[in-house]
Amino acid sequence: MEIFRTIKSIRSMLDGARLQGKKVGFVPTMGNLHQGHIELIKLAQKTSDIIVCSIFVNGLQFGLHEDWDKYPRTFQADCEKLQAVSCDVLFYPDENQMYPNGLGSQTRVICSSMTEYLCGASRPGHFEGVTTVVSKLLNIIQPDKMILGKKDYQQLAILHRMVEDLCFPVNIVEADIHRETDGLAMSSRNSYLTILERHNAGQLHKSLRWVADKIRLGDRNFTALEKEAIRQIHEAGFKPDYISVCNSKTLEMAETNDADITVLGAMYGSSARLIDNISLN
Ligand code: PAF
Repeated sequence: MEIFRTIKSIRSMLDGARLQGKKVGFVPTMGNLHQGHIELIKLAQKTSDIIVCSIFVNGLQFGLHEDWDKYPRTFQADCEKLQAVSCDVLFYPDENQMYPNGLGSQTRVICSSMTEYLCGASRPGHFEGVTTVVSKLLNIIQPDKMILGKKDYQQLAILHRMVEDLCFPVNIVEADIHRETDGLAMSSRNSYLTILERHNAGQLHKSLRWVADKIRLGDRNFTALEKEAIRQIHEAGFKPDYISVCNSKTLEMAETNDADITVLGAMYGSSARLIDNISLN
């Protein structure tokens, strides 16, 4: 695997690959790679000739009191995992490459829909940081396909919208959520859980599944279902952030006659915020 640290060097290598007719698949990450990320690389390999993974812990998408400084940076282990899955290229820029004029004066990409509610309500500015860095990465890598996981469902929906609105010439490929045996969605932040929290953390998935099953059976009292799921999460020792039955496309509260529904949830442990979702279609 070749590692590139500068925009200039990776652009010149990818220009050469494209001249040879190679299709580029891109997996953006913040590192601390787990099996979920590896599945994204494997999915990319099915449809692209050259796979680029990026690792950049993007300060712009973390709030002032969030975990940017303690976010696990595991470069050596990440490289070994990428090599084991035969990833071709790693783009590993530093802050100076990505934000040469500083974070404060960085030109921003703002998606005006879907960013203010659900995770956006608890993490103001988060999605602006995501859309800004992903725009930059798309301009640097210019991939044919970008592979994103469905675990960050709101991020996925917003990036679909950004790509459409700003005419980025890239196809987004969606990858299913990779789960632990108790249903907990794989996430770099799972490592923040205490032993007891880890033991009970499958509850988020369990409660989302409970809501989804009820809806499948015809229950359309979404508010009551959300309320009960929140109670279950509370009882398991976590602080619920939200459980929301949403329209899968707009992410607005689902109408009772909506056919395309996704149930999204987020909860806090003592030092971790976990998210998950289930789509009904
Ligand atoms: O999902 C992530 O890991 C990040 O939000 C992303 C897409 C790599 C942007 O920093």
